[in-house]
Amino acid sequence: MAAPKIFASKIGLIAATVGSAVGLGNVWRFPAEVQEGGGAAFLIIYICCVVLLGIPVMLSEFALGRAGRSDAVGSLKNIGAGRGWQLVGGWAIAASYIILCFYMVVAGWTFEYLWQSISGGLFAPEATTTGLNAHFSAKMETFITESYNPLINTYIMIAINIAVLIAGVQKGIERLSNIAMPILFLILLVMVGVSLSLPGAMDGVSFFLKPDFSKITATTVIDALGQAFFSLSLGMGILITYSGYFPKENKLLKTAVTVSALDLLVAIMMGLIIFPAVTSFGLGGESLRGATLVFVTLPEVFANMPATQLWSILFFLLLTVAALTSTISIAEVSVAFICDRFRTKRWKSVLIVMLPLLLFSSVCSLSMGPLSHITVAGLNIFDLLDTIATNIMLPTGSIFLCIYMGWIAPKNLFVNQLTNNGSLKSNFIPVAIFIVRYVAPILIAGVLISNFI
Ligand code: PHE
Repeated sequence: MAAPKIFASKIGLIAATVGSAVGLGNVWRFPAEVQEGGGAAFLIIYICCVVLLGIPVMLSEFALGRAGRSDAVGSLKNIGAGRGWQLVGGWAIAASYIILCFYMVVAGWTFEYLWQSISGGLFAPEATTTGLNAHFSAKMETFITESYNPLINTYIMIAINIAVLIAGVQKGIERLSNIAMPILFLILLVMVGVSLSLPGAMDGVSFFLKPDFSKITATTVIDALGQAFFSLSLGMGILITYSGYFPKENKLLKTAVTVSALDLLVAIMMGLIIFPAVTSFGLGGESLRGATLVFVTLPEVFANMPATQLWSILFFLLLTVAALTSTISIAEVSVAFICDRFRTKRWKSVLIVMLPLLLFSSVCSLSMGPLSHITVAGLNIFDLLDTIATNIMLPTGSIFLCIYMGWIAPKNLFVNQLTNNGSLKSNFIPVAIFIVRYVAPILIAGVLISNFI
């Protein structure tokens, strides 16, 4: 008999959902946005976005998934949505699949750097002769633009995804998350400790935690909102799919608050690792953005520290784990859809979803190098897909989902899910529903439009 599609324990359920939320967004985007948005000034706005918009929208996805108990389309259908509204679920699935194509490539990069940290290749002797920054920059440039090597790593990550997904919700996703998330938090704790004990670390901490409100502009608020949605994995059908595996007595509000708080905690811990480390070694500036932060600046920090290889292994293990649990959650959106829609066996659905990735992710990977001449509106295929899915599809999907849950869904469905049919009470519940109806669609539409001006 197939294993029941339900998370076996409360901890497993939280671990899996936090595993989805904690990903490259926390490491890759958050520090740069803090730096540009005036340190704690950005942090304060970000926290407001998480609490006032992120949690209510998360609750609407949870309520839908648990009431519908199916994939993003099936859940809408099960609660009586017409065909047009079911398309909103299809839209989220499409967005998540596009994201999967390029996120898998980056997951492959993190795996390569983990491997190179273990083998020691990352810190080859030439680093001392050419200068660290030049060494790591050249290394990243060569690696990312190469043809074969990144592909192999991407395929390894696809293979691990396939194995975990075929094992199922309890024996695959939940079991992996139960092991991976404690490891991730442990590594984070150790690295925060190490970073805070570096000479001059407190200058970094005070940069991070001292608000500079003069840096705040409309863009800061838009960025904070976009970051909150991306980081909480909203608008991709992930939370709808996962909440279909929540038991019916689960307290959705408590789960949403816990998941958001842990995701925020990871982002703050990342800040406490990165800012002290870069100020201590006099790095910073452009070096805090995306791939440069992760593959150039941080290796430079590690190379300056005793026990270089140990820190590097721990950091890239952390990153690989974070990327893995996130890719699995994105892939599960499509796997659940194929399983429920076409009634195919789970292993078949997994292969139907994952095998085409061998091609799609390869194209994304090659678009950084041999295929970089193919551009649309000045963007290579990788960046184009990122822009379409993250900046356009996710906010649009979220707007329609809020409208559906706030206005169209059967009366009381939302309230009943949040209160477990009237047995729970919280003053935040009516506030959350008000936000989903009136505030979220307008603000998200603002963010969407701002992408075009
Ligand atoms: N929330 C993840 C992060 O912060 C991002 C993610 C994106 C997860 C897409 C799943 C899907 O990196």
